[in-house]
Amino acid sequence: MQANLVILPGDGVGPEVSAAAVAVLKAVAERGGHVFDFDEHPIGGAAIDATGEPLPEATRKACQKADAVLLGAVGGPKWSNPDARVRPEQGLLGLRAALGVYANLRPLRVHPRLAERSPLKTDRLTGVDFVVIRELTGGAYFGAKTRTADSATDECKYTVAEIERVLRRSFELARQRGGRLTSVDKANVLETSRLWRSTAERVAKSYPDVSLEHQLVDSMAMLLLTQPARYDVIVTENLFGDILTDEAAALAGSLGLLPSASLGDAHGGLYEPIHGSAPDIAGQGVANPMGTIASAALLLRHALGLEDEAQQVEAAIDHVIEHGPLTRDIGGHAGTEEVRDAVISALDLVQTDKKAFFTGMRACG
Ligand code: NAD
Ligand code: IPM
Ligand code: MN
Repeated sequence: MQANLVILPGDGVGPEVSAAAVAVLKAVAERGGHVFDFDEHPIGGAAIDATGEPLPEATRKACQKADAVLLGAVGGPKWSNPDARVRPEQGLLGLRAALGVYANLRPLRVHPRLAERSPLKTDRLTGVDFVVIRELTGGAYFGAKTRTADSATDECKYTVAEIERVLRRSFELARQRGGRLTSVDKANVLETSRLWRSTAERVAKSYPDVSLEHQLVDSMAMLLLTQPARYDVIVTENLFGDILTDEAAALAGSLGLLPSASLGDAHGGLYEPIHGSAPDIAGQGVANPMGTIASAALLLRHALGLEDEAQQVEAAIDHVIEHGPLTRDIGGHAGTEEVRDAVISALDLVQTDKKAFFTGMRACG
């Protein structure tokens, strides 16, 4: 298979973790006889420095034409002046909108080796395996903004069409997995959430084989930590999904582990770890690349239909989590490149004896 992949390294640890994921994709291509062409472009702070804009037109056009896009992270203190004309994050939001990637899948499993290290009780972490689908191109992120000297507003708006398409995707995924969907909202207070909930009820009629429950976002924040194994597919609006998934990362052991796939109807998708540019560790070569490598696995699965290769990469990550080397955030001493090389070496192990590492793993979206 031939594929054109755009790489957006971005800022902070973004270039470090995306380089590791590209190396893994190259190894996968070599082993499978695929041809992946990599085309790198600036976004975020790096693009502001180079062109004055966080999403230069050339970057946007290349992404729109590509079979899929892999992104590191954007942002950092250098561009965080609240009075700045442009911010790196606007580049990422603009790209999500330009690609129409409204469904952001954030799968989470807890590896038993890391469960032992978690601040949460190990017995609560047994069997944790869920996917959060975060609506990605609506809500307060994209509503009108106003600012005067003594007030500011961010409009939170959702249309039925926006809610319905992300819910349908969530029901479809729940149908392929455990048949349970939890819709998270704040319907006791917000009008957008009441529209969300009634839309969910209506869409549910087309999916009688999926059980739907509603959960208010404040109590969901608590339940995610106290009963995480209860959940299968969780769907929620943009801002709630952003917050709940960083919280959920504590279950897995580190923010550096979690991948995401942002999918629309007409594009192969945008793939990025859920963490940010980690300015506190940027440039040191110690960032955990696993979240970005796992995002590359999602790219193989969703954009290119290479399910076997996607599973191989996921199994290789599992293998490295089990046997090391590990980065600092999950209790090791290794650097980004050492972990990258270990994942690539593990590809050969899982290729020769793939099944050994697939103990009850379920499709992650
Ligand atoms: P962050 O996710 O960058 O970092 C939070 C904490 O997690 C830090 O202690 C960091 O060292 C750690 N961490 C994150 N990724 C890690 C990794 N791969 N390995 C090891 N440790 C890791 O969040 P923040 O500090 O709140 O935000 C920093 C900047 O990143 C901000 O400008 C923010 O807007 C931006 N951001 C970008 C994205 C994105 O590009 N998708 C996502 C989140 C935040
Ligand atoms: C994420 C990030 C982004 C978001 C920021 C950087 C715009 O936190 O991808 O989770 O809030 O969506
Ligand atoms: Mn976030």
